Amino acid sequence: MDRLTTRELLQQASERLRTAGIETPRLDAEVLLMAVLGQDRAGLYRSLPEPVSLEVAGRFLELVERRARGEPVAYLTGRREFYGIEFLVTPAVLIPRPETEFLVTWAAAQLRRLSRRPVCIDVGTGCGAVVIALAHTLGPAWGGLLVGCDISLPALQVARMNRDRLAPRRVELVCGDLLAWCRGRLDLITANLPYLRPDQAHAGLAYEPSQALYAGEDGFALYRRLLRQAAELLRPDGSMICEIDPGQREVAREAAQALFPAANIQVLPDLAGLDRYLTIELGSDDGGPERIEGKSAARPARGLDTPGPHTTEGATR
Ligand SMILES: C[S@@+](CC[C@H](N)C(=O)[O-])C[C@H]1O[C@@H](n2cnc3c(N)ncnc32)[C@H](O)[C@@H]1O
Repeated sequence: MDRLTTRELLQQASERLRTAGIETPRLDAEVLLMAVLGQDRAGLYRSLPEPVSLEVAGRFLELVERRARGEPVAYLTGRREFYGIEFLVTPAVLIPRPETEFLVTWAAAQLRRLSRRPVCIDVGTGCGAVVIALAHTLGPAWGGLLVGCDISLPALQVARMNRDRLAPRRVELVCGDLLAWCRGRLDLITANLPYLRPDQAHAGLAYEPSQALYAGEDGFALYRRLLRQAAELLRPDGSMICEIDPGQREVAREAAQALFPAANIQVLPDLAGLDRYLTIELGSDDGGPERIEGKSAARPARGLDTPGPHTTEGATR
């Protein structure tokens, strides 16, 4: 049997994906072939006229079949770019979405304006996208404490791989239910928690963990609990950003106003113009009596620096 060239193989794969109803057949075929070949796009294009080995063609067409059945490209390649950084992903974690990148930008701006060494916790961290991107953006000289927490140990194992690759020793990881484990005072909370109602399920979400997607009858159950915890834990000048479903605009604003009556509360749109981010700013940083000196401020009952059974470190080492 004659070997196909890269160009012919891509044409065949694109056609298969197009007939399967995939929205971006050529792009997906290219990304899958780049992953199998271990090449970037320039390398792929250079190899267009060259024949592909039967072994590579076989592995590629197997991935194309799985994609044709609906498996997300990110799970097939094991990678997803977020905030310009390549993260490892597995079916244990939600695939990070572009709209979540705003949490990083907003959080970095909040942390930079503080004169002390702040403490920030990313709740429901998944693969660690938000907290690790934040560590990257703030840079190695930034002296605060960044923590990612999640209820799912398998998700935290992925976060740990990403942390060790991308921000070693700069992000702590904790396994726990929202902030129930946390003691001390926080400067900033970021959260992209599950916010869908069960009736919002659709085929495109079938491969992602339901624990990362759905949150009670109205989709706001986890945020309702988190906001109550935040009211206990945030410093008087602390702040918080939550990614929400656009349909939760009013319920989110009302829940936040009831708990933080004096705060500056906003619901901001994403790039598509959809109400997507609940932001809460409690006050201004006057560097006054609340001033702290680094890590000890947010030490949970089971300390972040002394991992117990509730940390990824404890579970996986
Ligand atoms: C929508 S995913 C977001 C993941 C990541 N922040 C991102 O943006 O890519 C929500 C995450 O919240 C976690 N989660 C669900 N319930 C939780 C709870 N009660 N406490 C902590 N994390 C929870 C899930 O395991 C999942 O990793």
